Amino acid sequence: MNTKHRLVLGIETSCDETGVALYGDNGLIAETLHSQIDIHSEYGGVVPELASRDHVRKLIPLIKRCFSKVSVNAEDLSGVAYTAGPGLIGALFAGVSVARSLAYGWGIPSVGVHHMEGHLLAPMLEEKPPSFPFVALLVSGGHTQLIRVGSIGDYELLGESLDDAAGEAFDKTAKLLNLGYPGGPALAACAKSGNSKRFTFPRPMTNRPGLDFSFSGLKTFALTTSQQHTLDKQTRADISRAFEEAVADTLAIKCKRALQKTGLSTLVVAGGVSANKHLRATLDTMTKGMNACVFYPRHKFCTDNGAMIAYAGYQRLKAGEHDKLIIQARPRWSLSELKQTVMQ
Ligand code: KG4
Ligand code: ZN
Repeated sequence: MNTKHRLVLGIETSCDETGVALYGDNGLIAETLHSQIDIHSEYGGVVPELASRDHVRKLIPLIKRCFSKVSVNAEDLSGVAYTAGPGLIGALFAGVSVARSLAYGWGIPSVGVHHMEGHLLAPMLEEKPPSFPFVALLVSGGHTQLIRVGSIGDYELLGESLDDAAGEAFDKTAKLLNLGYPGGPALAACAKSGNSKRFTFPRPMTNRPGLDFSFSGLKTFALTTSQQHTLDKQTRADISRAFEEAVADTLAIKCKRALQKTGLSTLVVAGGVSANKHLRATLDTMTKGMNACVFYPRHKFCTDNGAMIAYAGYQRLKAGEHDKLIIQARPRWSLSELKQTVMQ
């Protein structure tokens, strides 16, 4: 990688958002995002084939738009980073093939980024980034994990969901309450007018030791509660509120345990569910109470985006990593398989 001037193009296509960004020695200089919400909403969830086709349609125009925002062209780039997994295989391949072809054509290195590492490092894009080591809570549509992060690539899994991810539980509960897609933000909006005293949901797996989670029971609890009542507007709001509070409390209890267990006092929260205001308020109170601090990405970088991939790729390319000639996308990929790297 050119050591005088570094600028990396980042590409994210693992699910239902096409994200592109430019991150370099001067930080994040441009980003563009296209959300596929309109395409999938009529089906109530992501349709993988439609997602892949839309990435193919939107990716090149988005890259051009990102370049034109800051008058950058291919000669200014020193590398291309893309999400190599985990995610939907067709969607991943749309990004992998464009990223690898561009890098090959431009004669610059490329690097495949782990999607969850992208999320985990997203708070590094903020003005006041966290310092290593820290405990990370990753809460997305596909993952709920607590990780001890020593440095980039030094990831120790402390606990994870044994069934549904937190975001998945939000999506499924929103669906059964007929709140629309994507479920997380819809349920959070509905919960605002809910009465928190009407229903009490369990805080799963908090009365036994350990840092694993289980969220599928909460969705079932929401289903049985909804079947026992007339599902009018207020009942929907009350169930949403009780569900949201149960998820936030459960996550906060486990985060506190993880901080105590590791002896660390910095918590980083990332992934789509970290956009949830009630969760943030609960974690703010919890960390304050134990003299710890908590970091989040800005709202638009909680969900999938190109900036987090450009950042992670920039760091890995800077550390000398790059792809071999083989082209690979990995629908399943554990964070613990990643190489440790030194942040410079
Ligand atoms: O990180 P992300 O964009 O994609 C994955 O990597 O999965 O996360 C998407 C998830 C979805 O389940 C979505 O419903 C949830 O994040 N989400 C939220 C909120 N915004 C997005 N969940 C709760 N409250 C929100 N405000
Ligand atoms: Zn994601």
